[in-house]
Amino acid sequence: MAPDQRHRTPAAVVCGLGGFLPPQVITNDDLGRVLDTSDTWIRSRTGILRRHRAEPGTATSDLAVEAGRRALKSAGRDGEDAVDAVIVATTTPDRICPATAPAVAWRLGLGTVPAFDVGAVCSGFLYALVTARSLLASGAARSVLVIGAETYSAILDPGDRSTLAIFGDGAGAVVVRAGTPDEPGAIGPAVLASDGSGSDLISVPSGGSRDPFRAATGDRADPYFRMQGKQVFRQAVERMSECSRQVAERSGWPVEEVDVLVAHQANLRILQAVADRIGMPRERCHVHLDRVGNTAAASIPLALADAAGEVLRPGHRVVLTAFGGGLTWGAIALTWPDVSPA
Ligand code: COA
Repeated sequence: MAPDQRHRTPAAVVCGLGGFLPPQVITNDDLGRVLDTSDTWIRSRTGILRRHRAEPGTATSDLAVEAGRRALKSAGRDGEDAVDAVIVATTTPDRICPATAPAVAWRLGLGTVPAFDVGAVCSGFLYALVTARSLLASGAARSVLVIGAETYSAILDPGDRSTLAIFGDGAGAVVVRAGTPDEPGAIGPAVLASDGSGSDLISVPSGGSRDPFRAATGDRADPYFRMQGKQVFRQAVERMSECSRQVAERSGWPVEEVDVLVAHQANLRILQAVADRIGMPRERCHVHLDRVGNTAAASIPLALADAAGEVLRPGHRVVLTAFGGGLTWGAIALTWPDVSPA
């Protein structure tokens, strides 16, 4: 390290990337055979053509381990010392207790590193990435594996066409290491926010301490994921537009100079509305949801892994943004590193 850098706060630099999708594919027509829905409705209202589903018995940690292994390989790291910490962002942990991350770290052979979950629903990956950056900035870690992993099929109501059409299973991961703010891959300005007054708009009503299963009897217990789609839609557009603009501005980038927007893959109409609102050509907003649906906390790292093989080039100015249950939202600006997904 050069002498003038010795006392600087380390930046978080992305140095590895990986994604994993369970092999089973569910098309819109597959859904149309069991529910009152159609390819035409789903395609025109959401832009989604298909999604992946984990086989029964496959848990979030299984997907997280695969994505984590690929990100470590992409970063050229292995063994017990590969990273100093593991963070898993998920809405669908293997169990309510304990957290999923320790099992993932152990199965990846990462020794006894600190490992914990972050819960911010579809914004979870951005929350986890900013948390990792803080670990690096404080010197508590020199490298962190950050995974977004979800098995939404485990919490969807098999009779609810409005959520079954949208959500998919999968996992994505990045490795971040301590570095300098001016190198490609360095995470720049970030915004995180929440508004708990909207906590009922996206929720799993029963099974937590508010409505434990032992007290929720008969018809009252609702263990499934519920979303007020219409109200969420409007807020998702407003919040992601607002914070994307903020991080671009704090980076000194006019929006027209942002090369790629990787937004939470909730709905194609939302992505287009965000691009329109911030004044960015729609084609710069990467679209991955057509093939995977909304994978919640896994959405951004999976979209990054997809974009890295297609449109992202080293040095590109990238804005990541997400919105989800909580309500929570956020954005991060970064320059793209010379990294390929494994
Ligand atoms: N197939 C056919 N009809 C469907 C359907 C499906 N898969 N899903 C919903 N519908 C129906 C509804 O039942 C409703 O019927 P009704 O008018 O008879 O009651 C009608 O379509 C309109 O429903 P609505 O919820 O108003 O549709 P929408 O155009 O808002 O689209 C979403 C629904 C969920 C796709 C959309 O609201 C959305 O994407 N919301 C945001 C999701 C999001 O950003 N989440 C944040 C992070 S997860």
